[in-house]
Amino acid sequence: MASVEAPVTSPVTPQPPGWARRFPLDERVFMWLILGLGVVMAAISLAWLFAADHNVPTRSYTTSPEAWSRKVTAWAGQHTDARGRVVVPPGEDGYVMAARYSFFPDPIVIKAGVKTRLWISSVDNLHGYSIVGGGQNLNLEIAPKHAFAVTLKPDEPGTYLVVCNEYCGLGHHGMKGHIVVER
Ligand code: CUA
Repeated sequence: MASVEAPVTSPVTPQPPGWARRFPLDERVFMWLILGLGVVMAAISLAWLFAADHNVPTRSYTTSPEAWSRKVTAWAGQHTDARGRVVVPPGEDGYVMAARYSFFPDPIVIKAGVKTRLWISSVDNLHGYSIVGGGQNLNLEIAPKHAFAVTLKPDEPGTYLVVCNEYCGLGHHGMKGHIVVER
């Protein structure tokens, strides 16, 4: 038996051709404003990307919480000075461990005017490593099982505050450390 097709009818009156081009003036002004704003924002993003001195980790390696804890503890033990502070020898790398709710070693001492690379990893959950002030643009997410390398070259001696800025538990707000920059 042949099927009987119902005639196609629509309750909607078809729009005349070209209807979409006839936007009112305020709609067209709005579209151009949005387009212009998009171009401006894209330009600012690109300028910010190339002009600003971003400090992002350029190297990372995998590790484990146990290995990292052993490594940093052993390294800190070998580089503790007579005053009990852990000092990164100029030209060498330093190692930092983030754990609920502190950074170790704290403080870590580095030389002013010398490029120093710090390796940082977490031994539990996600933490942050953010230097407050000092012209050092550094704001990192520190994940466990990965060691991140950052390079610092602070010119001004002083004690710089480091805060954790990833929520990591009830003690998050108090998680901080220090970088001491010496001549
Ligand atoms: Cu560690 Cu928040």
